[in-house]
Amino acid sequence: IRPFRVGIAGLGTVGASVIQILDRQNRTVAQRGGRPVQVVGVSARDRAKDRGFDLSRFTWFDDPLALARSEEVDCVVELIGGADGTAHEVVRTALSLGKHVVTANKALLAKHGSALASLAEEKGVSLAFEASVAGGIPVIKTLREALPGNRVSRLYGILNGTCNYILSRMELEGLTFAECLKDAQRLGYAEADPTFDVEGFDTAHKLAILTSLAFGSKIDAEAIYVEGISSIAPLDLAMAHELGFRIKLLGVAERTETGIEQRVHPTMVPKTSSIAQVMGVTNAVTIDADAVKELTLIGPGAGGDATASAVVADIADVAGGKAGTTFGRPVADLEAAPRAPMQRH
Ligand code: NAP
Ligand code: HSE
Repeated sequence: IRPFRVGIAGLGTVGASVIQILDRQNRTVAQRGGRPVQVVGVSARDRAKDRGFDLSRFTWFDDPLALARSEEVDCVVELIGGADGTAHEVVRTALSLGKHVVTANKALLAKHGSALASLAEEKGVSLAFEASVAGGIPVIKTLREALPGNRVSRLYGILNGTCNYILSRMELEGLTFAECLKDAQRLGYAEADPTFDVEGFDTAHKLAILTSLAFGSKIDAEAIYVEGISSIAPLDLAMAHELGFRIKLLGVAERTETGIEQRVHPTMVPKTSSIAQVMGVTNAVTIDADAVKELTLIGPGAGGDATASAVVADIADVAGGKAGTTFGRPVADLEAAPRAPMQRH
C-alpha cells in the first residue's frame, strides 16, 4: 500500500511532538488510516535548531510554500501559526493544489475558515482542525460526528489553557500574573504573542469555530464580545474566594430570541460547580442540547503532546478518508446567523 505522505510546516512545540508521536504510534495510526503515514518533508525557520530528533531523514524546506507545493506531499500539516501571512499562504496553496490540510491554527480558521473550507470542498480534499480548539479534547469530532440528533441551545467552557493555568496558580499559590505567564510560556502553552491568550482573543477564535459547528452557522468571530484576564488582580481572586466563587475565563455561545450570542469574559463561578474544579492547563467544554441534555468534555487544553494527539488523529482520519466535510456540512449550507446584540456582562 502506498504510504500517506505528510509534510509538516512548523516544528515548534506542536510540530516536534507530532513527529515524536508518529514515530511512537505509527502502527496504530496506520491501522486507523488504513495505510502507513510517512513524514516526507519538514519546514521551519532555523534548520540548525536542536529539536530532539534527527532531521536528516526528512526533506528540509527552507520555504514552507515549497513544501506546500511539493509533489511528494499528499497532506500539509500547518503548525506555524498566525491568521495571515505564511500560515495562510501555506494552507491556501496546499488546498488549491488539491492537497489535504491538517492545522491547529485557530486564529487562521476564525478569520479565513469559511473561505478555506469552501476551497477544500471545491477541490475535494479535507481541511481538518481538531487541534485548533481545546488541545487534546476531541470536541470538534464530538460536535461534527456525535450530535446530529440534537439541537444545541448553549455551549460554554474554559477554552484557553494559559489563562486557566495563570488564574489557578495565582489563586492557589499566590504567584503574580507575570510569574505564571512566564511559566506558561516556558511550558509551551502560550501563543507566540501571549496577548492573544490573556486578552481573550484566543478563546474567541476557538469559540467562533465551536459556534459554527454547534449551531450550523458561518464563523463570525467579529460578533464576539471579548474581555480577557490581564486586569485580574490577586485581590479579585481573594474576594471571589471569600464569597465562595472562583474566577474563570469562559467562552459562551447561546441561542437567544434575537440570534446567536457569543461572548468571552472572566466569570465568577460557584466553587461547588464542576467548572470551578477545572484547574491548571485543563480545558472543559459543556454542550447543552435537547436530546443529550448536558455533555461535558474535560482534558488537557494546551501543550505539545496533548495538541499533537489531536493533530495525529486528524492525520489518521484524513489518510483513511474519514475526515468528512469541514464543518460537518457543506459551507454553502451554513447560515449567517443573526447576531444577538453585544452586551457587557
Ligand atoms: P511554536 O512553538 O512557536 O512553533 C512555530 C513553528 O513555526 C516553529 O518551528 C517555527 O520555526 C516555525 N515558523 C514560524 N514562522 C515560520 C516561517 N515563516 N516559515 C517556516 N516556519 C516558520 O508554535 P506552537 O506552539 O507549536 O503552535 C503552532 C500552532 O499550533 C499555532 O497555530 C498555535 O496557535 C497552535 N496551537 C498551539 C498549542 C500549544 O499548546 N502550543 C495548542 C493548540 C494549538 P523555528 O522553530 O525555526 O523558529
Ligand atoms: N495558547 C493556547 C492555550 C494553546 O493556552 O490554550 C492551545 O490552543
